[in-house]
Amino acid sequence: MADMEDLRDGKDFGLDRPQDKGGFIVKGNANGDWGIKRRLSRLFNPDTGRTVMLAFDHGYMQGPTSGLERIDLTIVPLAQYADVLMCTRGVLRSLIPPTLNVPVALRATAGASVLTEMSNEAVSVAMEDAVRLDACALAAQIYIGAEFEHQSIMNISKLINEGLRFGIPTLAVTGVGKEMARNARYFGLATRIAAEIGSHYVKSYFVEEGFESICAGCPVPIVIAGGKKLPEQDALDMAYRAVDQGAAGVDMGRNIFQADDPVAMIQAVSRVVHELEKPQRAYEFYNDLKAQSRAA
Ligand code: 5RP
Repeated sequence: MADMEDLRDGKDFGLDRPQDKGGFIVKGNANGDWGIKRRLSRLFNPDTGRTVMLAFDHGYMQGPTSGLERIDLTIVPLAQYADVLMCTRGVLRSLIPPTLNVPVALRATAGASVLTEMSNEAVSVAMEDAVRLDACALAAQIYIGAEFEHQSIMNISKLINEGLRFGIPTLAVTGVGKEMARNARYFGLATRIAAEIGSHYVKSYFVEEGFESICAGCPVPIVIAGGKKLPEQDALDMAYRAVDQGAAGVDMGRNIFQADDPVAMIQAVSRVVHELEKPQRAYEFYNDLKAQSRAA
């Protein structure tokens, strides 16, 4: 075991020397096999190396939260503007038209709800079913520091092992329990552990201080969750700063589907992520689209 008496926080993240991608669009994945790289090339836009994932898997733990009461009415109209849909297999089969040609990151764990200990999850989707559903990624939470930390790390490890058999990448989602700090030290630890165990990419949260170091210290791409609903301009600003500081995109839920105009919002987020549009311009674009849809 490493000497626990002299744990030093990392200091030199080489921010002026970006990691060499080895000729592949997705950081840290140049040495993956053909099927993994094929799916990653669907998840990440080959022109920009970034992605706008639309997350609407919240119901697996939270039930019909605001904006997701009727996914057929609120999410289906948005789906064509997303690069990736992140959802459960139940919603995918029940409500998402299979003719919609948008890749899916499949929520692959379950076992808890907001009423109990959220970290008490297990892998819940058989790999055969993920293949049947044409999943491009398997997604599960890694709960560092939580009661069921070990179990969550093993869940991700199992998905990676099984996914590799079928060429399906794994997305580790850094879950934050109610008591956990949301700072660079915590997310630096959680994202690095997720990458070290073999996750192909990692979902985390933007933090005001030290986000660039979190991205630099994680050898695979980080996409950010949106978190709680913010005013639209603030959410665009957060997406811009995240990408500018090294994130490979967003996996955003509430800040899109709870926006005043979700269809306009996802298109504005996409401009920020793929074109590095400045937040003010992206917000103007959002308002223009909103005005057009109201006039129609
Ligand atoms: C919940 C998730 C969500 O997909 C994640 O929280 C993203 O959604 P939001 O942008 O609303 O935070 O992993 O289990």
